[in-house]
Amino acid sequence: MTEPQEIQIERSVNLKAKPPQDQLGFGIYYTDHMFIINYHVELGWHQPRIVPYQPIALDPAAKVFHYGQTIFEGLKAYRAENGRVLLFRPHKNIERLNRSNVRMCVPQIDESIVLDALKQLITVDQDWIPTLEGTSLYIRPFVIATQPALGVAPSTEYQFIIIMSPVGAYYPEGVNPVKIFVESDYVRTVVGGVGEAKTAGNYAAGLRAQEIAKDQGYSQVLWLDGVHRKYVEEVGSMNVFFKINGTVYTPELSGSILNGITRNSIIQLLRYWNIPVEERAISIDELYEAGKDGSLQEAFGTGTAAVISPIGELNWHNEKLIIQDGQTGELSKMLYDTLTGIQKGTLQDPFEWMIDVPLHLLTPTAK
Ligand code: COI
Repeated sequence: MTEPQEIQIERSVNLKAKPPQDQLGFGIYYTDHMFIINYHVELGWHQPRIVPYQPIALDPAAKVFHYGQTIFEGLKAYRAENGRVLLFRPHKNIERLNRSNVRMCVPQIDESIVLDALKQLITVDQDWIPTLEGTSLYIRPFVIATQPALGVAPSTEYQFIIIMSPVGAYYPEGVNPVKIFVESDYVRTVVGGVGEAKTAGNYAAGLRAQEIAKDQGYSQVLWLDGVHRKYVEEVGSMNVFFKINGTVYTPELSGSILNGITRNSIIQLLRYWNIPVEERAISIDELYEAGKDGSLQEAFGTGTAAVISPIGELNWHNEKLIIQDGQTGELSKMLYDTLTGIQKGTLQDPFEWMIDVPLHLLTPTAK
């Protein structure tokens, strides 16, 4: 492990006005500062700095524009009632960042560099952490390949950047159930592809289907597996869970779906409550049969951005399946309340998920 290099901090002299907390939406406003560190094949990761939030200048030949060599993460910080600032399972995000890096041929980033950057950036912009119910500070770390070269090969230069955005609910529906279109023409990925990596191409590949679904009144698409077009994978921005006859099922990590941190936390919570939970392949026919015979009790999505989002309707080949009368189910509500309670520090954290941001530890240049 390398020692973290000292982060240089240049404070903004033009602080922005903060948006009203009841109108944040998702990913619309950005805080006053951002973190950047450069990579060069001969220097490694170097020159960590926090600077005023600003556009970045890149050579038009930078590889990220042409071959999509980029990865990202998403995590959240919360302001607890006693003033503490809490981060939800950042080590898991950093582990996944580095797994995505391996898949996309991006050099590893030392966990201590990322954690130090997160803590210092959050400290500098701590006034941006919203406190209203249902809000948080969404943090978006990402890596881009910056070498100006058009040969198809891994870049020799990168930038790792962290930006932050105060957010409310991801869906305009808020915590109310969303309607989801089951996609049968397009696929998101296949096993052996990059579906498990958090890379931009997965999301770009989903846009066309998402637009078609939107035109028909659906919030997002539920992807089926790319080979059989039969097994449920994930929704555009969340993993999915189904409660059937008292047992909660979620698609197993087949290699083509995202290994969600909220997904993992929900499985842990269900086990803690002794609610049966199984990770296994779930076919769309099985879901529709369970819907018809009344054993499908609830469906919900999980994600950092979406938190817990109840699913009130599926549409597959124009056949609508209304779940829980289109209302939020008891389990979804209990999971949402518990998870957000732990995250905001109002409920006990038996899993030790929350990490305190030590607000006094800024590097000397911050003064
Ligand atoms: C997240 O939940 O952080 C995600 O990455 C979803 C994002 C694509 C909005």
